[in-house]
Amino acid sequence: MANNRLDQIVSTIVDKVRQGVIEEGVTFEEYRAAIGYIMKISEAGELPLFIDVFLNTTVVSVINQNSHPNASPSDMEGPYFLDDAPFVKNGKIKTMDEYKDDEPMVVRGTVKDVDGNPLPGVVIDMWSSTPDGKYGGIHDNIPVDYYRGKVKTDENGQFEAESTVPVPYRIPDSGPVGAMLEMMGRHSWRPAHVHLKVRHPGYRELITQLYFEEDEYVHSDCCEGIVPAEFVYPRIVEDGKRVLEADLVIEPVAQQQAA
Ligand code: BEZ
Ligand code: FE
Repeated sequence: MANNRLDQIVSTIVDKVRQGVIEEGVTFEEYRAAIGYIMKISEAGELPLFIDVFLNTTVVSVINQNSHPNASPSDMEGPYFLDDAPFVKNGKIKTMDEYKDDEPMVVRGTVKDVDGNPLPGVVIDMWSSTPDGKYGGIHDNIPVDYYRGKVKTDENGQFEAESTVPVPYRIPDSGPVGAMLEMMGRHSWRPAHVHLKVRHPGYRELITQLYFEEDEYVHSDCCEGIVPAEFVYPRIVEDGKRVLEADLVIEPVAQQQAA
């Protein structure tokens, strides 16, 4: 049986690409070069990165358009989420001792529903970069339980996790995606950020990010990130730890479908 949704999406996207080809007067050489480039991205294993750089933010804006007005804004997931990160012990995400100047960071807050009721037992995945822009379980054999982990909200809907302040980092830029950005005159930096994924049965999954106000890339993300204003944090330090306080609001699945 024909899948009409698939037909509609593919037809619309192909139609827009055709319009672009016509508008720009794309030559046969350029068409061939595009095919060669796509082959290179695929051979380099950079297809997910390529699609994330150019389209993740767009899909996120569709999610935000269709969300309940009280729900927290969504942001990119990026390619470095790992579902098998373990639960954090004693609220402390493991970090590496070798970074002498890293700054401790506390991420804390509450998860509520759209009516303001705190939600206990919500699972939050948190992942962020090392002080030199790497990810646990992804780069340099850093174990999967470093700089990432899961926490659960308590009976008051509150959560807290400690790690270290991440840094702005360049997305992989030595392959074809980096080459494309450079040829387009764009840089490959992402602002420093903390990724959060919030999951609870019966509620729409919320994927978002927290940012740092003083960051030079916060408003020039190479991925044209959403950067929700409520998740850009001024510098607040308590007991020597940078504090980010996030009130996260998630909406029931049924409410979103009905919208
Ligand atoms: C990230 O935030 O981890 C990310 C997003 C898009 C491309 C590469 C990395
Ligand atoms: Fe990231």
